[in-house]
Amino acid sequence: MTDAPVITVDGPSGSGKGTISRLLANHLGWNFLDSGALYRLVALDALNNDIGLSDESMIADHARQIDVRFVSQNPMDEPSIMLNNEDVTADIRTESCGNAASKVAALPRVREALLQRQRDFQQSPGLIADGRDMGTTVFPEAKLKIFLTASAEERAKRRHKQLKEKGIDVSLSALVKDIAERDERDGSRETSPLKPAKEAVIVDTSIMSIDTVMDKLLSLITD
Ligand code: DC
Repeated sequence: MTDAPVITVDGPSGSGKGTISRLLANHLGWNFLDSGALYRLVALDALNNDIGLSDESMIADHARQIDVRFVSQNPMDEPSIMLNNEDVTADIRTESCGNAASKVAALPRVREALLQRQRDFQQSPGLIADGRDMGTTVFPEAKLKIFLTASAEERAKRRHKQLKEKGIDVSLSALVKDIAERDERDGSRETSPLKPAKEAVIVDTSIMSIDTVMDKLLSLITD
């Protein structure tokens, strides 16, 4: 048990929380938990082992046992993500792995299996925890809870730009539909649905630059 401070940053994909959380962790010199990557790793492991995405007990068993490592050379770069000693950094970021992650994330026993793994990231001098239920379920005692959001259109545009930069051509309308479906699944599941904690500060990033969001969050931290 540690009493290192935790700041939770929850919100839907495309709200900017990945970029912002990493910047914040780097600015403060704190540890960083990318909980979405854990769900993606569990999904990839299920796909690799031909486990059906609704086989809750098998996926939960694997979620407890898989060997996961985040290997960082430089804190500002995305770390290399290792699954059972294999570098899967690119594999977990595909749209199909994201969709599979959203399905395994709806299984309560899988969420339960990942709980302790996530809490183990709470170490000195502090933790920025990025996800969907960081403030509501995983770190209910967090000292500051932030909920970042943005319109589905804006989030689809950001995703479209990211994919284009990687040379991946997907239609914007397909992305809007995909994001809306994923929001619906993440927001309506029974266990830990995507919703702000009661005491969370909600920040709509639709028309904010990254710098403006950072200034806003730093002002909340120093308040
Ligand atoms: O943030 P991301 O896109 O990498 O997350 C992948 C999926 O995992 C997403 O559909 C929601 C789910 N997820 C979750 O249910 N709870 C979390 N704490 C983080 C992610």
